[in-house]
Amino acid sequence: MAIIITIDGWSACGKSTLAKALAKKLGYVYIDSGAMYRAITLYFLRHHIDWTDTKEVKQALKNITIEFSFNTKTQESEIYLNGENVEYVIRDLVIAEKVSDVAAIKEVRKFAVSRQQKLGEEKGIVMDGRDIGTTVFPKAELKIFMEADETVRVERRFKELFEKNPNVTIEEIKTNLEMRDYIDSHREVSPLRKAEDAIELDNTHLTEKDQLDFALQLATGKMVEKITIA
Ligand code: DC
Repeated sequence: MAIIITIDGWSACGKSTLAKALAKKLGYVYIDSGAMYRAITLYFLRHHIDWTDTKEVKQALKNITIEFSFNTKTQESEIYLNGENVEYVIRDLVIAEKVSDVAAIKEVRKFAVSRQQKLGEEKGIVMDGRDIGTTVFPKAELKIFMEADETVRVERRFKELFEKNPNVTIEEIKTNLEMRDYIDSHREVSPLRKAEDAIELDNTHLTEKDQLDFALQLATGKMVEKITIA
């Protein structure tokens, strides 16, 4: 029976890698909730929105449509902002530098959370983010909370961004991750925290396969549990 799986955790600890692999194995939909906050940030930057002004934010959100579409070539779900594929442009450090500020805005969270909840209505979904197990799907059948040592996270993100932009420095990445983790876990609305019923997964010393095996075992257990109860 289809369930909802939430994967929350700190920046760059491999949430999306695990979530994508898990969704693929289970034939579930994968949704990257962080991509929504990144796409909104891109819109705000492009349209010079003053996000300290609530009125301006509310008005801007009315002009934003966010959709996900499965790319059969890459076999991955990609995000569209007002009909434009922005999957790659939102990964830029320019967006990463502002996204935590934008994601802390109450109106922005309300906008994103209601869309995320809609996407999970039919279950059969793996969603990663910061507040998925606590706010978006507090009743999800399986919640995973991911962690990894900061040095490992910085190195992983550096490798990923360096491929696209060889001018990026390790110090820039480290500063950005520390700043985002601080803002994400200290904001007033839905701060990053582990849901009480979430299972911790520290992947500092784990391979991608180890993590997938672990998550698959948990997911299968929850599915069986659901069938037994039903
Ligand atoms: O997962 P990510 O690094 O792409 O997320 C980008 C930012 O979006 C992150 O710094 C915090 C914010 N975010 C959030 O506040 N809530 C979520 N559910 C997902 C991401």
